[in-house]
Amino acid sequence: MATAMTPKKAWEAMGKIPHLKRVREGDLAPGPWFYAEPDDGSGLWGQWGIKAEPSRRGLTLLDLMRAGDEPPPEHGFATGQVRGAGMDSEMGLTQVQYVANHQYQVWSDNVMALYEESVSRQWSATKDIPWETLTPLPHDMEKALCHICTFLTRVEFGAADRLGVWLPRIGYAYHEVKMFLGTQIMDETRHMDVFRKRALANGGGLGCTFSTATALEATDTPIALDLKAIFSDFNTTSFLIQVVGEGMVLDIFRFSEFLGQTEVDKIIFQRVMQDEARHVSFGTMRLKYFLEHCPDREEEIGKLHNAADALEMNQTVYLLLNPHLLQASAILAGGGVTGMDKGYEAYRQLYVQVREAYLRRCEIAGFPRRDRCVMPPDPPF
Ligand SMILES: [Fe+2]
Ligand SMILES: [Fe+2]
Repeated sequence: MATAMTPKKAWEAMGKIPHLKRVREGDLAPGPWFYAEPDDGSGLWGQWGIKAEPSRRGLTLLDLMRAGDEPPPEHGFATGQVRGAGMDSEMGLTQVQYVANHQYQVWSDNVMALYEESVSRQWSATKDIPWETLTPLPHDMEKALCHICTFLTRVEFGAADRLGVWLPRIGYAYHEVKMFLGTQIMDETRHMDVFRKRALANGGGLGCTFSTATALEATDTPIALDLKAIFSDFNTTSFLIQVVGEGMVLDIFRFSEFLGQTEVDKIIFQRVMQDEARHVSFGTMRLKYFLEHCPDREEEIGKLHNAADALEMNQTVYLLLNPHLLQASAILAGGGVTGMDKGYEAYRQLYVQVREAYLRRCEIAGFPRRDRCVMPPDPPF
Protein backbone atom coordinates (compact mmCIF):
# COMPACT_ATOMS: atom_id res chain seq x y z
CA MET A 1 0.00 0.00 0.00
CA ALA A 2 1.34 3.42 -0.91
CA THR A 3 2.08 5.65 2.07
CA ALA A 4 0.49 9.06 2.25
CA MET A 5 2.39 11.77 0.40
CA THR A 6 3.57 14.81 2.32
CA PRO A 7 5.20 17.98 0.97
CA LYS A 8 8.54 16.79 2.35
CA LYS A 9 8.30 13.38 0.67
CA ALA A 10 7.11 15.03 -2.53
CA TRP A 11 10.12 17.37 -2.51
CA GLU A 12 12.49 14.43 -2.09
CA ALA A 13 10.78 12.43 -4.85
CA MET A 14 10.70 15.36 -7.27
CA GLY A 15 14.28 16.19 -6.47
CA LYS A 16 15.35 12.80 -7.88
CA ILE A 17 13.86 13.58 -11.30
CA PRO A 18 16.98 13.90 -13.51
CA HIS A 19 16.35 17.29 -15.14
CA LEU A 20 15.48 18.89 -11.80
CA LYS A 21 18.46 17.28 -10.13
CA ARG A 22 20.72 18.70 -12.88
CA VAL A 23 19.45 22.24 -12.28
CA ARG A 24 20.11 21.90 -8.57
CA GLU A 25 23.62 20.72 -9.36
CA GLY A 26 24.24 23.79 -11.51
CA ASP A 27 23.77 22.31 -15.01
CA LEU A 28 21.40 24.83 -16.56
CA ALA A 29 21.64 23.75 -20.22
CA PRO A 30 18.40 22.95 -22.05
CA GLY A 31 17.66 19.37 -23.06
CA PRO A 32 18.23 17.79 -26.48
CA TRP A 33 15.02 19.34 -27.91
CA PHE A 34 16.82 22.69 -28.01
CA TYR A 35 19.62 21.39 -30.22
CA ALA A 36 17.39 19.24 -32.45
CA GLU A 37 16.55 20.11 -36.07
CA PRO A 38 13.50 18.94 -38.03
CA ASP A 39 15.32 16.29 -40.12
CA ASP A 40 18.22 15.27 -37.92
CA GLY A 41 16.76 11.86 -37.12
CA SER A 42 16.18 12.67 -33.46
CA GLY A 43 12.48 13.23 -33.97
CA LEU A 44 12.67 15.91 -31.32
CA TRP A 45 11.69 18.87 -33.45
CA GLY A 46 8.84 19.23 -35.95
CA GLN A 47 9.20 22.21 -38.22
CA TRP A 48 11.35 25.31 -38.60
CA GLY A 49 11.46 28.33 -40.90
CA ILE A 50 7.72 28.60 -41.34
CA LYS A 51 6.38 32.10 -41.51
CA ALA A 52 2.61 32.12 -41.86
CA GLU A 53 1.31 35.42 -43.19
CA PRO A 54 -2.11 36.75 -42.29
CA SER A 55 -4.63 37.12 -45.08
CA ARG A 56 -7.66 39.42 -45.33
CA ARG A 57 -9.41 38.00 -42.25
CA GLY A 58 -6.32 37.69 -40.09
CA LEU A 59 -4.12 34.64 -39.52
CA THR A 60 -6.34 31.70 -40.43
CA LEU A 61 -5.82 27.94 -40.33
CA LEU A 62 -5.72 28.03 -44.13
CA ASP A 63 -2.88 30.57 -43.96
CA LEU A 64 -0.95 28.08 -41.83
CA MET A 65 -1.47 25.41 -44.48
CA ARG A 66 -0.29 27.74 -47.23
CA ALA A 67 2.85 28.46 -45.21
CA GLY A 68 3.72 24.76 -44.86
CA ASP A 69 1.88 23.52 -41.80
CA GLU A 70 1.65 19.74 -41.70
CA PRO A 71 -1.51 18.59 -43.53
CA PRO A 72 -3.84 16.05 -41.89
CA PRO A 73 -2.65 12.46 -42.34
CA GLU A 74 -4.87 9.69 -43.73
CA HIS A 75 -4.40 7.74 -40.51
CA GLY A 76 -4.13 9.45 -37.16
CA PHE A 77 -1.71 8.86 -34.30
CA ALA A 78 -2.11 6.38 -31.48
CA THR A 79 -1.05 9.06 -29.01
CA GLY A 80 -1.97 12.61 -28.15
CA GLN A 81 0.84 13.77 -30.45
CA VAL A 82 0.52 17.25 -31.92
CA ARG A 83 0.37 17.14 -35.72
CA GLY A 84 3.55 18.49 -37.24
CA ALA A 85 5.48 18.39 -33.98
CA GLY A 86 8.28 16.01 -33.09
CA MET A 87 7.98 13.55 -30.26
CA ASP A 88 10.13 13.02 -27.21
CA SER A 89 10.24 9.24 -27.34
CA GLU A 90 12.16 9.09 -24.07
CA MET A 91 9.31 10.66 -22.15
CA GLY A 92 6.83 8.97 -24.44
CA LEU A 93 3.18 9.71 -24.78
CA THR A 94 0.29 7.66 -23.51
CA GLN A 95 -1.19 5.36 -26.12
CA VAL A 96 -4.78 6.25 -26.89
CA GLN A 97 -7.27 4.18 -28.86
CA TYR A 98 -9.25 6.86 -30.68
CA VAL A 99 -12.56 5.65 -32.06
CA ALA A 100 -12.36 8.05 -35.01
CA ASN A 101 -8.74 8.20 -36.05
CA HIS A 102 -8.84 8.15 -39.85
CA GLN A 103 -9.21 11.23 -41.96
CA TYR A 104 -12.12 9.78 -43.95
CA GLN A 105 -14.16 9.39 -40.75
CA VAL A 106 -14.02 12.98 -39.60
CA TRP A 107 -12.75 15.33 -42.27
CA SER A 108 -14.60 17.80 -44.45
CA ASP A 109 -12.91 20.01 -47.00
CA ASN A 110 -14.59 23.12 -45.56
CA VAL A 111 -13.76 22.48 -41.91
CA MET A 112 -11.02 25.11 -41.62
CA ALA A 113 -13.11 27.81 -43.31
CA LEU A 114 -16.12 26.91 -41.14
CA TYR A 115 -14.04 27.05 -37.99
CA GLU A 116 -12.74 30.52 -38.89
CA GLU A 117 -16.24 31.71 -39.74
CA SER A 118 -17.53 30.34 -36.48
CA VAL A 119 -14.87 32.06 -34.41
CA SER A 120 -15.40 35.40 -36.12
CA ARG A 121 -19.19 35.23 -35.82
CA GLN A 122 -19.66 34.29 -32.19
CA TRP A 123 -22.33 36.44 -30.60
CA SER A 124 -23.86 36.87 -27.20
CA ALA A 125 -27.43 36.09 -26.23
CA THR A 126 -26.88 38.50 -23.36
CA LYS A 127 -25.67 41.56 -25.25
CA ASP A 128 -26.43 41.19 -28.94
CA ILE A 129 -30.21 40.90 -28.77
CA PRO A 130 -32.09 44.19 -28.21
CA TRP A 131 -34.13 42.68 -25.38
CA GLU A 132 -35.20 46.12 -24.15
CA THR A 133 -37.25 46.63 -27.34
CA LEU A 134 -39.53 43.60 -26.79
CA THR A 135 -43.21 44.44 -26.84
CA PRO A 136 -46.05 42.30 -25.45
CA LEU A 137 -47.74 39.84 -27.80
CA PRO A 138 -51.32 38.55 -27.65
CA HIS A 139 -51.59 35.70 -25.12
CA ASP A 140 -51.91 32.88 -27.68
CA MET A 141 -49.00 34.16 -29.78
CA GLU A 142 -46.70 34.59 -26.78
CA LYS A 143 -47.68 31.17 -25.49
CA ALA A 144 -46.98 29.55 -28.87
CA LEU A 145 -43.57 31.19 -29.19
CA CYS A 146 -42.63 30.31 -25.61
CA HIS A 147 -43.52 26.71 -26.36
CA ILE A 148 -41.39 26.67 -29.50
CA CYS A 149 -38.49 28.15 -27.50
CA THR A 150 -38.91 25.44 -24.85
CA PHE A 151 -38.94 22.76 -27.54
CA LEU A 152 -35.85 24.19 -29.22
CA THR A 153 -33.97 24.46 -25.91
CA ARG A 154 -34.39 20.73 -25.59
CA VAL A 155 -33.22 20.12 -29.17
CA GLU A 156 -30.07 22.19 -28.56
CA PHE A 157 -29.16 20.04 -25.55
CA GLY A 158 -29.36 16.97 -27.78
CA ALA A 159 -27.00 18.28 -30.46
CA ALA A 160 -24.40 19.48 -27.94
CA ASP A 161 -24.50 16.27 -25.89
CA ARG A 162 -24.35 13.88 -28.82
CA LEU A 163 -21.42 15.66 -30.45
CA GLY A 164 -19.62 16.53 -27.22
CA VAL A 165 -18.80 12.91 -26.44
CA TRP A 166 -16.89 12.73 -29.72
CA LEU A 167 -14.27 15.29 -28.70
CA PRO A 168 -12.11 12.77 -26.80
CA ARG A 169 -12.85 10.05 -29.37
CA ILE A 170 -11.42 11.92 -32.37
CA GLY A 171 -7.65 11.69 -32.81
CA TYR A 172 -5.42 14.71 -32.21
CA ALA A 173 -4.24 14.53 -35.81
CA TYR A 174 -7.55 16.14 -36.77
CA HIS A 175 -7.40 19.15 -34.51
CA GLU A 176 -9.38 21.29 -36.98
CA VAL A 177 -12.37 18.96 -36.62
CA LYS A 178 -12.10 19.03 -32.83
CA MET A 179 -11.84 22.82 -32.93
CA PHE A 180 -14.88 23.11 -35.18
CA LEU A 181 -16.92 20.78 -32.96
CA GLY A 182 -15.85 22.92 -30.00
CA THR A 183 -17.35 25.97 -31.71
CA GLN A 184 -20.48 24.05 -32.59
CA ILE A 185 -20.98 23.05 -28.96
CA MET A 186 -20.52 26.71 -27.99
CA ASP A 187 -23.12 27.63 -30.65
CA GLU A 188 -25.60 25.10 -29.25
CA THR A 189 -24.91 26.41 -25.76
CA ARG A 190 -25.72 29.92 -26.93
CA HIS A 191 -28.89 28.66 -28.62
CA MET A 192 -30.08 27.11 -25.34
CA ASP A 193 -29.24 30.43 -23.73
CA VAL A 194 -31.11 32.59 -26.22
CA PHE A 195 -34.25 30.41 -26.39
CA ARG A 196 -34.48 30.24 -22.61
CA LYS A 197 -34.03 33.99 -22.35
CA ARG A 198 -36.69 34.60 -24.98
CA ALA A 199 -39.17 32.37 -23.15
CA LEU A 200 -38.61 34.34 -19.96
CA ALA A 201 -38.32 37.85 -21.37
CA ASN A 202 -41.77 38.90 -22.52
CA GLY A 203 -44.29 37.99 -19.85
CA GLY A 204 -44.55 34.31 -20.80
CA GLY A 205 -42.44 31.41 -19.57
CA LEU A 206 -41.24 27.93 -20.34
CA GLY A 207 -43.77 25.46 -21.77
CA CYS A 208 -43.53 21.72 -21.25
CA THR A 209 -41.03 19.07 -22.22
CA PHE A 210 -41.97 15.53 -23.09
CA SER A 211 -40.50 12.13 -23.64
CA THR A 212 -39.08 11.68 -27.11
CA ALA A 213 -40.82 8.31 -27.20
CA THR A 214 -44.28 9.83 -26.94
CA ALA A 215 -44.51 10.99 -30.51
CA LEU A 216 -43.06 7.73 -31.81
CA GLU A 217 -45.32 5.45 -29.83
CA ALA A 218 -48.29 7.21 -31.34
CA THR A 219 -47.34 5.68 -34.68
CA ASP A 220 -48.26 2.00 -34.66
CA THR A 221 -45.50 1.29 -37.16
CA PRO A 222 -42.38 0.34 -35.25
CA ILE A 223 -39.22 2.11 -36.32
CA ALA A 224 -36.20 -0.18 -36.47
CA LEU A 225 -33.80 2.36 -35.07
CA ASP A 226 -30.71 1.20 -33.22
CA LEU A 227 -29.61 4.48 -31.63
CA LYS A 228 -26.82 2.78 -29.71
CA ALA A 229 -25.26 1.60 -32.97
CA ILE A 230 -25.77 4.99 -34.58
CA PHE A 231 -24.12 6.90 -31.74
CA SER A 232 -21.15 4.52 -31.58
CA ASP A 233 -20.05 5.57 -35.07
CA PHE A 234 -19.07 9.14 -35.95
CA ASN A 235 -20.33 8.85 -39.50
CA THR A 236 -23.88 7.94 -38.47
CA THR A 237 -23.81 10.29 -35.46
CA SER A 238 -22.84 13.20 -37.70
CA PHE A 239 -25.39 12.15 -40.34
CA LEU A 240 -28.16 12.00 -37.74
CA ILE A 241 -27.27 15.24 -35.96
CA GLN A 242 -25.64 17.44 -38.59
CA VAL A 243 -27.47 16.38 -41.76
CA VAL A 244 -30.93 15.02 -40.91
CA GLY A 245 -31.69 16.72 -37.57
CA GLU A 246 -29.96 20.07 -37.96
CA GLY A 247 -31.04 20.26 -41.60
CA MET A 248 -34.64 20.18 -40.36
CA VAL A 249 -33.85 22.62 -37.55
CA LEU A 250 -32.28 25.04 -40.03
CA ASP A 251 -35.52 25.20 -42.02
CA ILE A 252 -37.57 25.42 -38.81
CA PHE A 253 -35.43 28.42 -37.78
CA ARG A 254 -35.98 30.03 -41.19
CA PHE A 255 -39.73 29.49 -40.85
CA SER A 256 -39.71 30.88 -37.30
CA GLU A 257 -37.81 33.96 -38.42
CA PHE A 258 -40.51 34.51 -41.03
CA LEU A 259 -43.15 34.14 -38.32
CA GLY A 260 -41.33 36.35 -35.81
CA GLN A 261 -43.69 39.02 -34.49
CA THR A 262 -41.11 41.34 -32.96
CA GLU A 263 -37.73 42.60 -34.10
CA VAL A 264 -36.17 40.63 -31.25
CA ASP A 265 -37.71 37.37 -32.47
CA LYS A 266 -36.53 37.99 -36.01
CA ILE A 267 -32.99 38.80 -34.86
CA ILE A 268 -32.85 35.69 -32.66
CA PHE A 269 -33.80 33.39 -35.50
CA GLN A 270 -31.50 35.12 -37.99
CA ARG A 271 -28.60 34.64 -35.60
CA VAL A 272 -29.24 31.00 -34.79
CA MET A 273 -29.86 30.28 -38.47
CA GLN A 274 -26.40 31.56 -39.38
CA ASP A 275 -24.82 29.26 -36.77
CA GLU A 276 -26.96 26.31 -37.78
CA ALA A 277 -26.06 26.69 -41.45
CA ARG A 278 -22.43 26.02 -40.51
CA HIS A 279 -23.31 22.84 -38.65
CA VAL A 280 -25.28 21.51 -41.59
CA SER A 281 -22.60 22.57 -44.05
CA PHE A 282 -19.97 20.65 -42.07
CA GLY A 283 -22.23 17.59 -41.83
CA THR A 284 -22.98 17.57 -45.54
CA MET A 285 -19.38 18.06 -46.68
CA ARG A 286 -18.09 15.58 -44.10
CA LEU A 287 -20.45 12.96 -45.46
CA LYS A 288 -19.22 13.72 -48.98
CA TYR A 289 -15.60 13.32 -47.90
CA PHE A 290 -16.45 10.12 -46.06
CA LEU A 291 -18.15 8.55 -49.06
CA GLU A 292 -15.33 9.59 -51.38
CA HIS A 293 -12.58 8.22 -49.14
CA CYS A 294 -13.90 5.38 -46.98
CA PRO A 295 -12.26 2.04 -47.82
CA ASP A 296 -15.46 -0.05 -48.13
CA ARG A 297 -17.79 2.35 -49.89
CA GLU A 298 -20.49 -0.13 -50.94
CA GLU A 299 -20.80 -1.54 -47.46
CA GLU A 300 -20.88 1.91 -45.86
CA ILE A 301 -23.51 3.16 -48.35
CA GLY A 302 -25.67 0.16 -47.51
CA LYS A 303 -25.30 0.79 -43.79
CA LEU A 304 -26.06 4.45 -44.21
CA HIS A 305 -29.17 3.80 -46.33
CA ASN A 306 -30.52 1.50 -43.61
CA ALA A 307 -29.80 4.14 -40.98
CA ALA A 308 -31.39 6.85 -43.15
CA ASP A 309 -34.60 4.78 -43.58
CA ALA A 310 -35.06 4.78 -39.81
CA LEU A 311 -33.71 8.28 -39.14
CA GLU A 312 -35.91 10.01 -41.70
CA MET A 313 -38.94 8.49 -39.99
CA ASN A 314 -37.63 9.19 -36.50
CA GLN A 315 -36.61 12.80 -37.09
CA THR A 316 -39.75 13.63 -39.08
CA VAL A 317 -42.01 12.32 -36.31
CA TYR A 318 -39.93 13.48 -33.36
CA LEU A 319 -38.76 16.82 -34.68
CA LEU A 320 -40.68 18.22 -37.60
CA LEU A 321 -44.11 16.78 -36.82
CA ASN A 322 -43.79 16.82 -33.08
CA PRO A 323 -47.19 17.93 -31.79
CA HIS A 324 -45.67 20.62 -29.57
CA LEU A 325 -43.75 22.26 -32.41
CA LEU A 326 -46.42 21.68 -35.05
CA GLN A 327 -49.33 23.11 -33.06
CA ALA A 328 -47.39 26.05 -31.66
CA SER A 329 -46.07 26.89 -35.13
CA ALA A 330 -49.58 26.64 -36.61
CA ILE A 331 -50.79 29.18 -34.03
CA LEU A 332 -47.95 31.58 -34.84
CA ALA A 333 -48.31 31.10 -38.58
CA GLY A 334 -52.06 31.56 -38.41
CA GLY A 335 -51.79 34.78 -36.44
CA GLY A 336 -53.47 33.20 -33.41
CA VAL A 337 -55.32 30.13 -32.28
CA THR A 338 -58.35 30.97 -34.41
CA GLY A 339 -56.26 31.07 -37.58
CA MET A 340 -54.71 27.62 -37.24
CA ASP A 341 -56.17 26.40 -40.54
CA LYS A 342 -54.01 28.99 -42.29
CA GLY A 343 -51.17 28.09 -39.94
CA TYR A 344 -51.31 24.40 -40.85
CA GLU A 345 -51.30 25.34 -44.52
CA ALA A 346 -48.08 27.32 -43.99
CA TYR A 347 -46.58 24.39 -42.06
CA ARG A 348 -47.42 22.04 -44.94
CA GLN A 349 -45.28 24.24 -47.16
CA LEU A 350 -42.49 24.10 -44.58
CA TYR A 351 -42.73 20.30 -44.57
CA VAL A 352 -42.28 20.17 -48.35
CA GLN A 353 -39.32 22.60 -48.15
CA VAL A 354 -37.66 20.59 -45.40
CA ARG A 355 -37.95 17.38 -47.40
CA GLU A 356 -36.62 19.00 -50.56
CA ALA A 357 -33.69 20.70 -48.78
CA TYR A 358 -32.78 17.38 -47.12
CA LEU A 359 -32.85 15.53 -50.44
CA ARG A 360 -30.67 18.22 -52.03
CA ARG A 361 -28.13 17.95 -49.20
CA CYS A 362 -27.98 14.18 -49.66
CA GLU A 363 -27.36 14.73 -53.37
CA ILE A 364 -24.54 17.21 -52.65
CA ALA A 365 -22.99 14.62 -50.34
CA GLY A 366 -23.16 11.97 -53.09
CA PHE A 367 -25.79 10.01 -51.19
CA PRO A 368 -28.97 10.34 -53.29
CA ARG A 369 -32.10 9.44 -51.33
CA ARG A 370 -34.80 10.74 -53.68
CA ASP A 371 -35.97 7.28 -54.79
CA ARG A 372 -35.75 5.84 -51.32
CA CYS A 373 -36.65 8.68 -48.93
CA VAL A 374 -39.07 7.51 -46.27
CA MET A 375 -40.46 11.01 -45.65
CA PRO A 376 -43.70 11.02 -47.63
CA PRO A 377 -43.76 13.74 -50.32
CA ASP A 378 -47.21 14.85 -49.16
CA PRO A 379 -47.46 16.18 -45.63
CA PRO A 380 -49.32 13.58 -43.51
CA PHE A 381 -51.61 16.15 -41.90
FE1 LIG B 1 -28.44 24.89 -32.42
FE1 LIG C 1 -26.71 23.12 -34.49
